[in-house]
Amino acid sequence: MAESSYDIVIRGGTVGTACDRFEADVGISGETIAALGRGLPAGRREIDAGGKLVLPGGVDSHCHIEQLSAAGIMNADTWESATASAAFGGTTTVISFAAQHVGMDLSRVVEDYAALARRGAMVDYSFHMIVADPTEATIREHLPALIREGHASIKVFMTYDRLLVQDEAMLDVLMAARENRALVCVHAENHGMIAWMGRRLVERGYTAPKFHAMSHPRVSEPEAFDRLIAMAALIDQPIMIFHVSTAEGAAAVRRARGEGLKVFAETCPQYLFLTARDLDKPGLEGAKWMCSPPPRTEADQEALWRALALGDLQTISSDHAPYAFDQTGKLSAGSNPSFKQIANGLPGLETRLPLLFDAMVSKGRLGVERFVDLTATAPARIYNLPRKGSIAIGADADIAIWDPEKSVTLTDAMMHDRTGYTPYAGRTVQGWPVTVLRRGEIIVENGRLEARPGSGRFLPRSGGWAAEPSGRFEAEMDPARNFGAVLR
Ligand code: URP
Ligand code: ZN
Ligand code: ZN
Repeated sequence: MAESSYDIVIRGGTVGTACDRFEADVGISGETIAALGRGLPAGRREIDAGGKLVLPGGVDSHCHIEQLSAAGIMNADTWESATASAAFGGTTTVISFAAQHVGMDLSRVVEDYAALARRGAMVDYSFHMIVADPTEATIREHLPALIREGHASIKVFMTYDRLLVQDEAMLDVLMAARENRALVCVHAENHGMIAWMGRRLVERGYTAPKFHAMSHPRVSEPEAFDRLIAMAALIDQPIMIFHVSTAEGAAAVRRARGEGLKVFAETCPQYLFLTARDLDKPGLEGAKWMCSPPPRTEADQEALWRALALGDLQTISSDHAPYAFDQTGKLSAGSNPSFKQIANGLPGLETRLPLLFDAMVSKGRLGVERFVDLTATAPARIYNLPRKGSIAIGADADIAIWDPEKSVTLTDAMMHDRTGYTPYAGRTVQGWPVTVLRRGEIIVENGRLEARPGSGRFLPRSGGWAAEPSGRFEAEMDPARNFGAVLR
């Protein structure tokens, strides 16, 4: 009998991409998708996908794994637990962070985070470099070298006492990114407004978790977005605005994109499915729903769905930032903390895709193609991961096979990260990733994890942007026309 040409054939499913849906078998050779067609010859291993949707594995472009927080707390997950939860939720690629704090050497930071990932990762991964200390050495030596090594995106915070980068230093970072063709991702909220509101609330005894939401006034988002967009426009540097939470924030992004500025933006499930009311629980329970920016209102959820429909927001990431509800995490400042002393962040790697599949595919909001685009194809394209995020011949065989009929009620106990809870406990979702492949290897099947810690692979991302420079930068920086000479 002739030797089969495929290691695996996924047979009889409906393949979904960012632009199409079609009946086809998927032939996998080694780590790669080798063929799409009907009636493919038998593979050495056959997977029956009848009645199922065969979609690209998710690309989660914003998740915090084994990271030291702004307040110096280690988050709950190791690479092993975080990527196990990613795999169970149908995500096969993550972009996490190498987080510099003030005084740290960025090259050492990246080395240290890379060593943790090498040991534990079970899905493929890449890093954004958090720059909190843009010294001359960071900007002139470390950043260029690290970007050349494949760390082609930088993350900067405009808030958080220990991490924030002020406007003048932000311009240095934007300029360095431009010179080395990296993308700059930004947590953009007005720090002064948040600090001022927080101080006044705590002084008056309003310390419960629900006041966290109030302490991030909604105007702090469009203010910071507009300021950031103006700085990025001055430098003509592409930016990605992380976790848009308000209607006004989405409108600021739309305005900038309408003007042709190089602005990308994401939102996250917590802004589509939760509201500030979720923080209003007895005692400290609401801490489990505390993230920054906070969940807002139903009207904001609708505005964000509209912004996704219109293309103003291009990706939906989890912003997985895991802290257990105990003294190692949310309650690390003791048993009676004010909201200012509670770590910000929610677990979300595992629930991102099921929640969105339920809303977008099962309930029909935007549909399969947009689901694939927002959660896999667009993040792969924007962050320069050419082999990821699509079902195409030659692409990595990263595939999640979804049972659209399977209904699951989310519980704390079924999650695989280490926070011990999910903010979505009690919700029932329809549609579940029953089989997950990463580079041609089955890593989740029959509810079991089959991957080995350390089997995830680092994905170097080269510098370079989707869009070409507009010429605006050259005009702004032309010494004959204005002040640009000082910047050369
Ligand atoms: O609350 C959040 N999102 N914590 C993680 C750090 C950040 O702000 O992205
Ligand atoms: Zn953030
Ligand atoms: Zn984040």
